[in-house]
Amino acid sequence: MNLYKVKDYQALSKKAASVLAAQVILKPDAVLGLATGSTPAETYAYLRKWHEDGILDFSEIKTVNLDEYKGIAKDNSQSYYTFMKEHLFDHINIKAQNTFIPDGEDTDSNSVCEKYEAQIMQLGGVDLQLLGIGRNGHIGFNEPSDCFMEHCHCVSLAESTIEANKRFFDRAEDVPKQAYTMGIGTIMKAKKILLLASGKEKAKALCQALRGPVTPGLPASILRLHKDVTVIADEDAWSGMEL
Ligand code: GLP
Repeated sequence: MNLYKVKDYQALSKKAASVLAAQVILKPDAVLGLATGSTPAETYAYLRKWHEDGILDFSEIKTVNLDEYKGIAKDNSQSYYTFMKEHLFDHINIKAQNTFIPDGEDTDSNSVCEKYEAQIMQLGGVDLQLLGIGRNGHIGFNEPSDCFMEHCHCVSLAESTIEANKRFFDRAEDVPKQAYTMGIGTIMKAKKILLLASGKEKAKALCQALRGPVTPGLPASILRLHKDVTVIADEDAWSGMEL
């Protein structure tokens, strides 16, 4: 694992964007695994800027997102589909047909997940997977559980995740209770993984992921078994490592 501690969220975002930019420059037809949430938002701002400056060309890039809420309309302001359009896709020269997100509008879980898993394989797998980390150590929407789920699946969100994500919705009742997510196996098949952690509320989960046992009770801990993982954490997220 390559571990980088940086000062703050801005520094984290710039470094993360640099890693993604290097991938885009070195392999212009790469498959990028993308994440949503507040953590990567500023990373995407750098990518937008560097595209605008003529540094990054996304015309042959393909993207697969980690997850999407189940039963949410694409045009809902809180769908991950909308998030990706607003934060990245609408501002760069990526082709819409090269961007993939689980279909949250389709409530046939088996069909959505099978199709999505097959789609990722058809693209040849993920070259670089960007990940955030949940306060409970989840990656994508793989919540703490008794076993690692291998493939894309439908998950019931943990109460703590609904609690954490309600800040984005008008009312807590509006947060979907289920989501589609890449499985742990899907994530672990990526050639390279970039994990970002920012803020004190991530300190405990990050420390457990990097130092605790590898267990489905703390899904991010599995990343220690991957051969090419880069972790970028700001000082607040890193603070648990110094106790
Ligand atoms: C969300 C997403 C994850 C994300 C995590 C952290 O629920 N499904 O992919 O990494 O929780 O989100 P944030 O970056 O907003 O803290």
